Amino acid sequence: MIFTKDLEICKYILSASAEIGDYRKPPDSSGVMIKLARNSILMSEESQWKFHRSLLSPSFTGIQCNLMKPIINQCIDRQIANLLSLSKNDTVINVDIQKENTKLTFDIIGQLSIGYNFKSIEGQSEISNHFTFILNEMIKPIRRLSSWIPLPSDWLLFRYIREFDQITIMAINHRKQGTSSMYKSNFLLDSLISSKQSLNQDVIIGNINTFLLAGHETSSNLLTFVYYLLCKHQSIQEELYQQINVLQENSPLLDWVINETLRLYPPAPMVARSRHNKYDDILPGNIRISHDTLILISIYAIHRDTRHWGEDANQFNPYRWKDIPDASRLPYFLPFSQGSRICIGKQFTQIESKLIISKMLQTFHLQISKAEESKFKIYQRATLTIKNPIHLILNKRL
Ligand code: HEM
Repeated sequence: MIFTKDLEICKYILSASAEIGDYRKPPDSSGVMIKLARNSILMSEESQWKFHRSLLSPSFTGIQCNLMKPIINQCIDRQIANLLSLSKNDTVINVDIQKENTKLTFDIIGQLSIGYNFKSIEGQSEISNHFTFILNEMIKPIRRLSSWIPLPSDWLLFRYIREFDQITIMAINHRKQGTSSMYKSNFLLDSLISSKQSLNQDVIIGNINTFLLAGHETSSNLLTFVYYLLCKHQSIQEELYQQINVLQENSPLLDWVINETLRLYPPAPMVARSRHNKYDDILPGNIRISHDTLILISIYAIHRDTRHWGEDANQFNPYRWKDIPDASRLPYFLPFSQGSRICIGKQFTQIESKLIISKMLQTFHLQISKAEESKFKIYQRATLTIKNPIHLILNKRL
């Protein structure tokens, strides 16, 4: 196994053609993802991956993502209305911010992928918690040891996976019959169903489950880290608020805050690949690896390397982005990975998070008590998240 933050190795591995598949994602040792996401874009390799990628990419172009804005805005308005309904004297106390972000991003991706309103924001569904349960099961050491040992939590795991399957099957049926106003504006399902090649139901379900999972967990972690950092850096929050009042989501400082948060707390902190070729290979730096070597690229470590970022690499300093015209060109900034398997939802996330943060800051001034601040601890499961819930105080802007 190689654990690396070397940029040359990173480029070499990640730019290897996914179509040829010399470097593949390691097998799902927990057996959980394969049950949930099956042979979707996330789990497939080579020609099958290429098929999924070209099928799904048109749904994530800049133009498509812009068309999603009204739905994203509706969900944000629902969240803000819900938070305001909890306020007393224009203040909402004790807001479990990670929970709120998860409910919001889950409702957004539910609408955009299958056109279904889960109503998590209003507390009418606990389903977003079921995904959190699945993610936690995935990293249980015992599951990693063997995917076929039956575990007591299996029944709940399988129940939740069946639940997601059923929701997608219902959405497919409604879409085919053109019934029910519950199912509308379902960009992703539409593109899967109307694909020239007719797809079997399992392929559709696997991809929808992938998007429900990948499309909410990382985005919600990003929002939590942004809000936490803005609470800690009140003067930056104030400057951002002033800028957003004039420029809304087009504020340059908002871009810098998001980039700086992705740098310090990349929601996908590690990318793993294993060589899938019967021959050994020689990596940059003349490092010989055997044909089955596992390579772990630490995005987290690259993002905090003082050689790239300077002595203040561990500090939150959004202004460092001021003179960087295009963050995606920096070889040491990889929150969405790079190469052919770069995150398909990158543009979508950027649009979504800017809309959410700008509306939230226009409505509320965010604060955190010292006691809550001291609870902040990061935690890595498949994604980088927070270990304990943190609670914020939201003061309505007048
Ligand atoms: C802050 C938000 C996000 C971050 C940091 C992030 C990060 C990443 C990273 C690092 C990868 C590469 C993983 C690998 O190759 O092993 C990836 C892949 C992927 N992401 Fe994201 N992601 C985010 C949001 C999203 C959203 C919103 C969606 C969907 C709506 C999405 C869908 C996907 C999919 C389907 C893949 C697999 C692409 C492929 O293999 O071709 N992601 N993401």
